[in-house]
Amino acid sequence: MSAVKTYPVTEQQAENALLTRAQYLELYEQSLHDPETFWSTQAKALVDWFTPWDKLHSGDFATGDVKWFEGAKLNVSHNCLDRHLETIPDQAAIIWEGDEPDQTRIITYRELHEEVSRVANALKGLGVRRGNRVCIYLPMIPEAAIAMLACTRIGAVHSIVFAGFSADALRKRIVDFESSIVITADQCNRGGQPIRLKDIADEACQDLDVVRKMIVVKHTNADIQWIGTRDVWYHEMCKGVNPDCPPEEMDAEDPLFIIYTSGSLGTPKGAVHTTGGYLLWAALTHKYAFDHHEGDIIWCTANIGWITGHTYFLYGPLANGGTTLMYEGFPTYPNENRVWDIIDKHDVTTFYTAPTTLRSLLAYGDESIEAHHLSSLRLLGSVGEQINPDVWEWFYHVVGNDRCPIIDTWWQTGTGGIMICPLAGVTDLKPGSSALPLFGVEPALLDDDGQEMHGEGEGHLVIKRSWPGQVRAVFGDQKRFVDTYFSKFPGNYSTGDRARRDADGYYWVIGRQDDIIQRAGRKYTSSDIENTLLIHPQVAEAAVVGYPANCNEQHVYAFVTLMNESSPSDELRDVLIGLVASVEGRDCAPEQLQWARQLPKTRSGKILRSILQQIAANEVDNLGDISMLFDPRAVKDLVIHRLNQ
Ligand code: PRX
Repeated sequence: MSAVKTYPVTEQQAENALLTRAQYLELYEQSLHDPETFWSTQAKALVDWFTPWDKLHSGDFATGDVKWFEGAKLNVSHNCLDRHLETIPDQAAIIWEGDEPDQTRIITYRELHEEVSRVANALKGLGVRRGNRVCIYLPMIPEAAIAMLACTRIGAVHSIVFAGFSADALRKRIVDFESSIVITADQCNRGGQPIRLKDIADEACQDLDVVRKMIVVKHTNADIQWIGTRDVWYHEMCKGVNPDCPPEEMDAEDPLFIIYTSGSLGTPKGAVHTTGGYLLWAALTHKYAFDHHEGDIIWCTANIGWITGHTYFLYGPLANGGTTLMYEGFPTYPNENRVWDIIDKHDVTTFYTAPTTLRSLLAYGDESIEAHHLSSLRLLGSVGEQINPDVWEWFYHVVGNDRCPIIDTWWQTGTGGIMICPLAGVTDLKPGSSALPLFGVEPALLDDDGQEMHGEGEGHLVIKRSWPGQVRAVFGDQKRFVDTYFSKFPGNYSTGDRARRDADGYYWVIGRQDDIIQRAGRKYTSSDIENTLLIHPQVAEAAVVGYPANCNEQHVYAFVTLMNESSPSDELRDVLIGLVASVEGRDCAPEQLQWARQLPKTRSGKILRSILQQIAANEVDNLGDISMLFDPRAVKDLVIHRLNQ
């Protein structure tokens, strides 16, 4: 690893922050040593309860059967809407930006409350009751947020399926989830390309008796097929419906939603999150991780189909009375200015995105950014994978103008919200590190035998105690729930990630356990080699995997995508291999380096290393189902090149 730079908190950042360093330390201590006081205080401050709890917390990680706030009653839509009506009725709750730059819609808290209540009553009119399950297959349009909140208002459990998934993927989820209602749209546009959602939903639901009603939002007015006995227009369903719908009083442990993990291979796994604990975790982590201030406008670029969209596009910001920006389109449509245009147009203060998006923007050079002022930005966030130090530096200096702290947030679908991240104005920043745990989070590193390591070191990242936002079940599969999270290191929540801890206690999440390359008796991490390749100005993206050599050893195989204006050459290949040898050591210099026009990514932007491992090993006969990749052509191109080598 190259030398680590530190960016100390600036005076300005400290002055603007919600907490001082001393307050953070005190609260963190309290959260671990007096959890009863900590959680009671936070729960009362951040959430409105109809009935208080009898028992704060019970259960443990032996079976994973944990409960928080037992006996309490609350409603999520009441917390996200009704309680703000007295104070901020006319503040924008959602700012929507369509695929085309001239499409904007602003929805105030008053309007959102009315629309959500109306849709909630309309759903009741269709027979949806507390505990029923509703599948939402909608793009990033306000109706998606409205449908989610309407479900929570009447106690229905929602499951969002990313509106880029195929009919087969949607069908699998509807069947697993046994949803009698599907909400979709006629069509949506992404990057100027139409996606015919209703056709896909029709195909997914063919001969599926479980689906009683399909509610269709008229979004682009495209021609669609209509099944009169099943299909209902969203706008007709709402016509003349009473906008007064008292929120259902839900138990804290009632399921709120089910979200299928983003992995593109294997059977989808439905993570179940519950009402009270999840809402508190969403509100608390949004408030502290994003240093939420009145007037903030957060743009979380994640799709609502992923947990990040649930927690930081919708529930966290609205629970805290913030304004949240929703963008339908693609970051570089109609051109590479779009992200910066949106930030300037809507005065975004908090920009939360993924390293994969940043790398795609960085590849266009700095000119388009320099043509924007971006002066509204106060805080930048990153999620989903390790942010490469080079990308971090670019984000900090070029986008954030040396002013905005970068909050590198580590978490997972199963954690419900952010677990490890620096805090603005409190934590000194180290590019590539998610820094320190949030309140109530007790991480640990274990060796291969499950023994806890202390001080500096590298090992399996686990969480030692329950927190309110943790996943409560894998829908319909208790064994898979226990196997996924609690079997490997009994008594702990197993994250499946490897991490390093440095002398300051900072965590550096390296990646999934499978991304380790065994070589010359040592373990190398893909991300270290990738970060080194990214130092070269012509490299836009890199993915490094191991492939079998002899006697349990592995060779290193690098896939490299170049900047838009660069072209591959043998000379550049030698330079890049030499760069890794000089920075990381000869032993981990790639034996093979393949140029990639693009890397295979899941729909949520994660590089799919399992497929790259197969390509590197030249085992390309059966790559599994690749239709759920963002662009399956990426794999085909790589395979053709590999076979021609
Ligand atoms: O490997 C870690 C990586 O993403 C995994 C969680 O993926 P998912 O459940 O799809 O949730 C995505 C939204 C949080 C983690 O186990 N990951 C996430 N954030 C980071 C990260 N790796 C390094 N640094 C991060 N900030």
